[in-house]
Formats: sequence, structure tokens, C-alpha cells
Amino acid sequence: MENKRVADSKIEMRELVLPNDTNLLGNLLGGRLLHWVDIAGAMAASRHAQSIVATASIDSVDFSHPVKAGEMIVLKARLTWVGRTSMEVLVEACSENYLTGETKFTNRAYVTFVALDSQGKPRPVPGLILETDEEKAEFQRAIERRNARLARRQESKVSPC
Ligand SMILES: CC(C)(COP(=O)(O)OP(=O)(O)OC[C@H]1O[C@@H](n2cnc3c(N)ncnc32)[C@H](O)[C@@H]1OP(=O)(O)O)[C@@H](O)C(=O)NCCC(=O)NCCS
Repeated sequence: MENKRVADSKIEMRELVLPNDTNLLGNLLGGRLLHWVDIAGAMAASRHAQSIVATASIDSVDFSHPVKAGEMIVLKARLTWVGRTSMEVLVEACSENYLTGETKFTNRAYVTFVALDSQGKPRPVPGLILETDEEKAEFQRAIERRNARLARRQESKVSPC
């Protein structure tokens, strides 16, 4: 497996917010935005791994401002870290009012995906080539986020079911 650059798997995706995506105030539903975040992140991870991927974790997400029906959502996703079989993807979302040209930052989420083989078992992914200082710094910060996630995963093994 050849290592790949961050640029090799970057994704940009657009969605138009339709009435069916909104709540009773005409604002985009948080769950719908999370769905698009998941899809954009999965496409970047799948491109890197050249594999089917499963979402293992989505870090906490803050919604900065309401997005109205009729606006566009622009999602940008890129790899920030890879392990043996897992990958962290940063997904950034902005809204765009195409009538006025105004754009607003909506949210940022770190999503962890695991590459799966045909039996649904984790499979190795290519390494990540870090080309810029920003990519190198982001990779280091990702290691801290991963440690926090794995600690949380350990705690959540106590089943309430
Ligand atoms: C994610 C999943 C495939 C991991 O499978 P597993 O058999 O537990 O495999 P492992 O424990 O070996 O973990 C595989 C990798 O995922 C990472 N991982 C697993 N759970 C994680 C979590 N919650 N956060 C971050 N990383 C996680 C492991 O650290 C490991 O990484 P590495 O290979 O890069 O070191 C499995 O838990 C699963 O299928 N979960 C459900 C996925 C799903 O259905 N998602 C949709 C939303 S419901």
C-alpha cells in the first residue's frame, strides 16, 4: 500500500437546504447536518483507504448559527491522522446564501472512520504524507484527541442495556 497525501483524498460537497431538512422555524435540523458531515467525512476516508469505512466516533459538535431553507451548505473534509486501520477526518461546514453571496462558518467536527474488509473486519490503511507545517501540527493534535476518545471508549464499555 502506497502512502498518500492529504490532498489526494480531500472532498468538497454541497447540499441545498430544502424544507424537508428543516424544523418548524425553517432552520436546518442538526441531525441532517450531522448526516452530511458523516457522508463528506466517509467519502474522504474511503478515498484514502480505497475501502468501505464505518464511522467509529464523532467528536462533540457545536452549531454556531441557524441555517435557513434555501441556503447552501458547503462541506470540506480532509484526513488529519491515520493509525493502523482507523483515520481521523476533519469536516468543516459553512452556509452560503447564493442570493447575497454571504458565507458563514457553521461547524467543525472530527470524525473517526475504520476501514473494513469484505468480512466487515478492520483492515490496514495507507500512511499519510504530511506536506505542510499545518498538516504536521494537526496530526500531533489528533493524537491527543485519539487518546481521549479511546479513554472514553473504555468507559462506555459498561452496558446500560
Ligand atoms: C468501529 C468498529 C469497526 C471497530 O471494530 P473493532 O472490532 O472494535 O476493532 P478494533 O478495536 O481493532 O478497532 C479498530 C480501529 O478503530 C479504532 N477505534 C475503534 N473504536 C474507536 C472509537 N470509538 N474512537 C476512535 N477510534 C476507535 C481503534 O483504535 C483501532 O484503530 P487502529 O487500528 O488505527 O489502531 C466496530 O466497533 C463497529 O463496527 N462499530 C459500529 C460502526 C457503525 O455501525 N457505525 C455507524 C453508526 S451506528
